[in-house]
Amino acid sequence: MTPRTGLSTLAYSAPHIQDSESLAATENRPFAIKTSNLFKTYRNGGKVVDALGGVELAVERGEFIGVLGPNGAGKTSLIEILEGIRQPDQGEVEVLGTKVQDQKAMQKVRARIGIALQHSVLPPLTTVAELLSFQRGLYDSKVDPEMIMDLVGLSDQRAKRVGGLSGGQQQRVAIAMALMGDPDLMFLDEPTSQLDPHARLALWEILYAQRNRRNTSVLITTHQMEEAQRICDRVLIIDKGKIIAEGAPNDLIRRHFRHRRVYFVTAGDVQIETSQSDHQVIQLRDGRAQHQILSSAPLEMLAEMSARYGDKLTEVSIAEPTLEDLFLKLTPHAARRVQ
Ligand SMILES: Nc1ncnc2c1ncn2[C@@H]1O[C@H](COP(=O)(O)OP(=O)(O)OP(=O)(O)O)[C@@H](O)[C@H]1O
Ligand SMILES: [Mg+2]
Repeated sequence: MTPRTGLSTLAYSAPHIQDSESLAATENRPFAIKTSNLFKTYRNGGKVVDALGGVELAVERGEFIGVLGPNGAGKTSLIEILEGIRQPDQGEVEVLGTKVQDQKAMQKVRARIGIALQHSVLPPLTTVAELLSFQRGLYDSKVDPEMIMDLVGLSDQRAKRVGGLSGGQQQRVAIAMALMGDPDLMFLDEPTSQLDPHARLALWEILYAQRNRRNTSVLITTHQMEEAQRICDRVLIIDKGKIIAEGAPNDLIRRHFRHRRVYFVTAGDVQIETSQSDHQVIQLRDGRAQHQILSSAPLEMLAEMSARYGDKLTEVSIAEPTLEDLFLKLTPHAARRVQ
């Protein structure tokens, strides 16, 4: 998945699987995913684990949704229920206008859904090309496996057995399989956890291109907060099986943080007086000191500081809070606990 010029313009021109009539019918339905209150409990020996405690979700056509949450929060349980792989104890799921529980109706819809599981078990003795051709047959798809291998950077590995691929290469295979049906809806459970930065960027381009062509919706789980902030229209933060925050990443951040973080460096012996209570000083190895101050009016504060301290302040910067800051703020207990 090496980025190449014009990857998104390449936007592969596979013939559509759907005939135009059935596609038009589904285009009128605004939601790609809709759930009523989902509950899921596992019984593991004598232990009862509440994995989902009432999750309501609606995803529009063309929307990229990021599901975030600490380990054990319920992300995979949710995504597997949406995929129809797992049954909820309570609640219903509709994908692309069809109830997931309706097995017969889902037979048609399944071909329009691309899935990459968190732990894909790929047949180790099959070659990459064979596996994708097989997947194409399953979907009754006209997408060219060679084109998909090229898109995800697997062409050089086409004749290799899947069991002999690296972790990141296997993850590319899983993504390639999810693309083979030219999907209208994709479920990607931590698809980038083993991808190098080039491959990660290339995947985003592939997903954008897919959306541009087919208005494809993507539900992705990730622990890469920067990735979620950059690619998702909306994120859900799940904790202990419940959605605890939801919204466009930047709106969510603004809603939860009034402060910006101001950084500057001074010589080690400079005393800085500030009215802000949250003033941290880190001694650098070279004897200088890095100051970090939280402020709701960073520009005014810096103007006042430079009036008082002038050129004693160097390397001045203001940092916006990030989705990672928000995640850490909303899930502090997860620092010591894995459910
Ligand atoms: N098959 C299972 N049997 C018993 N308990 C399970 C099973 N699958 C998940 N759980 C439990 O349900 C809870 C939610 O797990 P889930 O895999 O959905 O979390 P997750 O958010 O995907 O975590 P991660 O970030 O580690 O992938 C956890 O407490 C987990 O131990
Ligand atoms: Mg998971």
